[in-house]
Amino acid sequence: FSSSKKSVCNFPPGPRPLPLIGNLNVVDLKKPFQSLTELSKIYGNIFTVHFGPRKVVVLAGYETIKDALSNHAEEFGERAEIPIFRKMTQGNGIAFSHGELWKTMRRFTLSTLRDFGMGKRTLEIRILEEVNSLIKYFESYHGKPFDTKMILNNAVSNVICSILFGERFEYDDPVFLTLLKLINQNTKLLGSPMVQLYNFYPSLGFLSGASKTVLQNISELNAFLQKLFQEHQEELNEDDLTGFVDAFLVKQKQESKKPHTAFSNGNLTFSTLDLFAAGTETTSTTVRWGLLLMMKYPEIQRKIQEEMNHVIEPGELPRLEDRKKMPYTEAVIHEIQRFANIVPMGVSRSTPSDVNFRGYVIPKGTEIIPLLTSALNDELHWKTPAQFNPSHFLDANGNFIRREAFIPFSIGRRACLGEGLAKMELFLFFSGLLRKFVFHPPPGVDKSDLDLTADVGFTLTPMPHLVCAVPFCLLC
Ligand code: HEM
Repeated sequence: FSSSKKSVCNFPPGPRPLPLIGNLNVVDLKKPFQSLTELSKIYGNIFTVHFGPRKVVVLAGYETIKDALSNHAEEFGERAEIPIFRKMTQGNGIAFSHGELWKTMRRFTLSTLRDFGMGKRTLEIRILEEVNSLIKYFESYHGKPFDTKMILNNAVSNVICSILFGERFEYDDPVFLTLLKLINQNTKLLGSPMVQLYNFYPSLGFLSGASKTVLQNISELNAFLQKLFQEHQEELNEDDLTGFVDAFLVKQKQESKKPHTAFSNGNLTFSTLDLFAAGTETTSTTVRWGLLLMMKYPEIQRKIQEEMNHVIEPGELPRLEDRKKMPYTEAVIHEIQRFANIVPMGVSRSTPSDVNFRGYVIPKGTEIIPLLTSALNDELHWKTPAQFNPSHFLDANGNFIRREAFIPFSIGRRACLGEGLAKMELFLFFSGLLRKFVFHPPPGVDKSDLDLTADVGFTLTPMPHLVCAVPFCLLC
């Protein structure tokens, strides 16, 4: 018998596609998340957009995103096949791998991150050491204006480097600076219109200058990592593992006789790179947004510092255990993440099989965009979504309250793997810096001049700006 079982697709509604370009006439590739937000006002909380020949389903508003990613976790739980990432990783690593390989890598990575301190006191101490190095660096400017971008990147990156390699790098180490520059450049380029066009029309085979740069940067990062892996291999001591890379090498050895193993060199390279890149840029960008917002809203900065004066001993930095005594600071940190909205379109998912969802039939392999910005700005959940307002996370008595529409790390099967680490870092870096310094705009710049529009790449980062970090000891 020939059973021709063809599924009947029934995509959600959306703008009418034009030949070849689809809906690119109504999507601004410089700010696609804004165009999708506008489209959701016309077509509702689930709609279809044609990025050239690529048919994508967009989920908007907290309820719809939660229903799909959490209530239908399996059905929306695969990562989309994005051409530039495919070319970069060949399907290796954690963030852009699929199926069984992804499962094995995610499980191994989570348990290894826990072994090396995620959520534990040892890691807290490591982060606090880094906060102290950062404070010394900030002090060296004696309140004069400087750009925090690279130095925050270095400091945050050192935390993940300790977990991956068991070592930190000096802030002026030229190799380290080069690596971070390559990662920064890629994060910017991966959201650029030229790279998006490559993703929409990969079969044209046209690699723009931007896509070529992305791939060159990956091969430079790769070369550096291979050298490092070699050193770790030579010095490997199974009784004294230094970090994730060593743990992977041991597992690789154990599985070397197996005909199929996930613990290949390719997976070592791209898992390390995924953690290095995802663990650096996102968190340091959030801290940078935080300092910019504190310069813009000095009264909020002052309230945090007053709260710390009440609960932290003089001369001490805040510890994780102090968090519950610092509801206002907690509320501000959450509001920074909500307002900064650094991954506005999440990371595209896909359907591992045909999916029936809300009366639509979405075929296997369809790209899904969870529009996280629409949850973080959902009018049904936030009193003043467009305003920076820490009281979104406070009750009438000033207690911190969790809000379910707060999903900057996304939700469901492929939700951010580093959420626990990121939250530790955000609290310790942000509150530690505010414990030691008052942040001001440079002389001659009024707080009203500070620009809160985002520089758009794969993430939303603050526009270039300078800060003055005035040590409290200079004020008294
Ligand atoms: C994935 C946000 C920090 C590692 C993601 C995703 C988002 C996100 C939105 C996509 C999740 C999905 O598809 O549902 C953030 C934000 C951060 C942050 C806002 C900081 C403020 C980190 C850190 C690490 C990390 C510190 C490293 C330890 C990853 C990895 C994935 C991921 C490996 C891919 C997970 C998978 O595909 O299974 N992150 N992240 N992230 N993040 Fe983060």
